[in-house]
Formats: sequence, structure tokens, C-alpha cells
Amino acid sequence: MKPKVTVIGAGNVGATTALMLSQAGIADVVLYDIAEGVPQGKALDITEATPLSGRSVSCRGTNSYDLTAGSDIIVITAGFPRKPGMSRDDLLHANTRVIREVVTCTAGLSPECIYIVVTNPMDVMTHIAWEACGFDYRRVLGMGGILDSARFRTFISMELGVSPADVNGMVLGGHGDLMVPLPNFTTVNGIPIAKLLSASRTSALIERTRNGGAEIVSLLKTGSAYYAPAASTVQMARAILLDEKRILPCAAYLTGEYGIQGVFVGVPVLLGRGGAEKILELPLTQDETTAFAASVEAVRAMLDTIQR
Ligand code: APR
Repeated sequence: MKPKVTVIGAGNVGATTALMLSQAGIADVVLYDIAEGVPQGKALDITEATPLSGRSVSCRGTNSYDLTAGSDIIVITAGFPRKPGMSRDDLLHANTRVIREVVTCTAGLSPECIYIVVTNPMDVMTHIAWEACGFDYRRVLGMGGILDSARFRTFISMELGVSPADVNGMVLGGHGDLMVPLPNFTTVNGIPIAKLLSASRTSALIERTRNGGAEIVSLLKTGSAYYAPAASTVQMARAILLDEKRILPCAAYLTGEYGIQGVFVGVPVLLGRGGAEKILELPLTQDETTAFAASVEAVRAMLDTIQR
């Protein structure tokens, strides 16, 4: 039997994730949304592309949670996107209600699933999803670090005129303005970035990475980024379904790693069929440690404003 991935929310991120999953041919997909007809229409459109991609997978759209039963992965993109001038934090309370509803309605039908939370503010929404399902914390993950590091990698590749495939990078912390890009763990095919870029250029690219989401929002005017977020989500789903044991930056629950407990935040995670199978602890500089702690505190402060 093929793996089954449910995508909750058939908006820009959700539908693009469903399309990319289908085109990768790694799972049958169920696309759920509260908007009547929308998931059905988009799923049919995605299905009609399968003869062209040559993939033997299905994509079904629904307004009923029944069809999500037995999912291996549930991706949550449902909620409200960021509008210009709106911070991720503004979305907090509205999206908390959505996440609780979605998880409450899906966890019992897919008791073995792994949740990947995309809805912003992502680190906090991941925590809310974990509390709502009561699963082992290793089976709840948030997508943010892969996207942030993909942006950092893109900007470095554009600056140096090299293939983005050759740039590797790591971004830790919350998926917000206080994220912590790590130039010390960023290389171009093994060459440390410090050998190729001046400190001031690296700082400028870090700043652009921090504002990467906002840069797209201000260009689009309505809505936020979705192609790179969807591609990042699919990389996580693939690593889990194929038990790839990839090391990718994801929001995972910390139980003392980096001296931090009881919060979901971006760290390097070994991703496999068990979800967040291991968290890797990188040796950080004093400045990085301070920046990481500030980012964690920002996530915690937001979490504390939610009634639980
Ligand atoms: N249950 C299911 N779907 C819902 C619910 C709900 N309770 N509430 C809203 N939705 C659906 C909407 O009907 C819409 O189709 O979620 C979808 C959101 O889609 P978009 O508005 O296009 O937002 P999108 O750009 O996909 O972003 C979704 O991902 O990156 C984050 O910040 C972004 O939090 C946002 C999320």
C-alpha cells in the first residue's frame, strides 16, 4: 500500500504541497479544506496532471475528515496567511483555534500519523498541535528552518554566482524575525562561507534571510510565500516516508538540548520514519547562543499568551 499524506488547507501552501507531493509520486494525497468545492477542484486538477508526470498516485479533495483516516503524515497549512504590515504574531490567536480544531478532528482517525505544521506562527502552532493530539513529541514537527535555510542558501548562491545545489546552510531558532542563521555551519560544497564572502556581505545576506518572508509579502501584496514553503514541506515528508535519516532544520520539542526544555523551536533534526528521531547539538559561539536563547524566549512568550 502506498503511503498516505493528508494536507489540511487547500490554499496556496496546501495546494502547492499537494501538487508537489503528487508530482514526486511518493504518496497518495488527500486535500482537505472547509471551503466547499475548493479542495475537490484543486485535487481533480492535480490528478489530471498525473498522466503527464507519469506518477501512479491519487489526489482526492474533501470537506470531510473521514477521508483523512489512516494517514501516515498530516500536513497542516490551514489558517490565515500574513497580510502586508501584519507580523506572524498577529496571526496567533486566530490560527490557534484553527489548529486545535484540525488536530482534534484528525488525531483519532490517524493515530499513527506524524504531523507537520506549517501554519504561522509556526513554532507556537506546532506546540498547540502537540498538546491537542497528545502524541509522542517526536511525531509532531514544524516546517520553518528548511525554508529559512533555503532562502539563505539562495541568497548566497545568487551573490557568488554558484549553483544553489552546492550551498549548504543551517538556520536555527524560531521561524520569525529572531531566527539564527549560522554562517559557521554554512558551506559551498564543503568550503566555509567565510573563505568566499566578506563578513559584511554575509551579514547583509543574513538580514535578507531574516526578512525573507516579509520581502515576498510586500511584493505579492495579498498573501504570503508558497512555492518554497511547499517544497520545504515536501522535503520533510519525503525524509519521513522514505526513512531517509536526513539532517534538516525543523521545529522539534526540546528536552534539555541546548540547555532548553519544553518548547518547539528550530534545531537540526535527524528525520526518519519515527519523525524527529534525534536532535543534533551544534557547538555554538557565545553570540549564537545568546541569539538562539532570545529566539527561544520570543517563542515562549508567544506561547504564554495562549490560554491552555
Ligand atoms: N479548517 C480547514 N481549512 C481551513 C480552516 C479550518 N478551520 N480555516 C481556514 N482554512 C483554509 C482556508 O479555507 C484556506 O483555503 O486554510 C486555507 C489557507 O490558505 P491561504 O489563505 O491561501 O493561506 P496560505 O498562503 O496557504 O498559508 C497558509 O501557511 O505559510 C503559512 O503564514 C502562512 O499560516 C499561513 C499558512
